[in-house]
Amino acid sequence: MVTASDQDGAPVGLTATSVCSVSLDPPLVLVCIGTGSRTHDAIEASGRYAINVLGARDRPISERFAGSHPDKFDGLSWESGRRGLPLLSDAIATCECEVEQAVPAGDHTIFIARVLAATASDHTGSRPLLWYRGAHRRLAEEDAT
Ligand SMILES: Cc1cc2nc3c(=O)[nH]c(=O)nc-3n(C[C@H](O)[C@H](O)[C@H](O)COP(=O)(O)O)c2cc1C
Repeated sequence: MVTASDQDGAPVGLTATSVCSVSLDPPLVLVCIGTGSRTHDAIEASGRYAINVLGARDRPISERFAGSHPDKFDGLSWESGRRGLPLLSDAIATCECEVEQAVPAGDHTIFIARVLAATASDHTGSRPLLWYRGAHRRLAEEDAT
């Protein structure tokens, strides 16, 4: 899930799978955001975004943030991070980022950004939420190797 603050300071966000690490030194990541989304406008205007890695139990949050819910953060536990970006309290890991390059790509923009701050959950049992063949999935309990 990618979050940002809009021009009124309100949190916005969307479910995203187009998220990737780019560079270790300096620490850079990228997200591809549809130009028609509210989150795109907020990232473009503020020059910042946060990445929130959702856990397997966060499926309802992923579903909500993939739609057009008028207040996606209503009833959710979230906080402002060290760099002022909205972070989901339950996230397995978060990154707060500052955009360095915005590359137009079809109907999306690739926002390449420097990681300013990051957190990782200390819940070692946390499992990520996955998206495969058009549905949410979770990692199997057993190691198949
Ligand atoms: C599994 C999944 C992955 C998605 N990945 C992306 C993505 O990487 N980039 C994107 O712009 N939209 C992606 N979407 C679509 C957005 O979540 C959706 O358009 C959202 O409603 C936009 O919200 P907004 O207008 O409030 O910003 C994805 C949707 C799903 C279900």
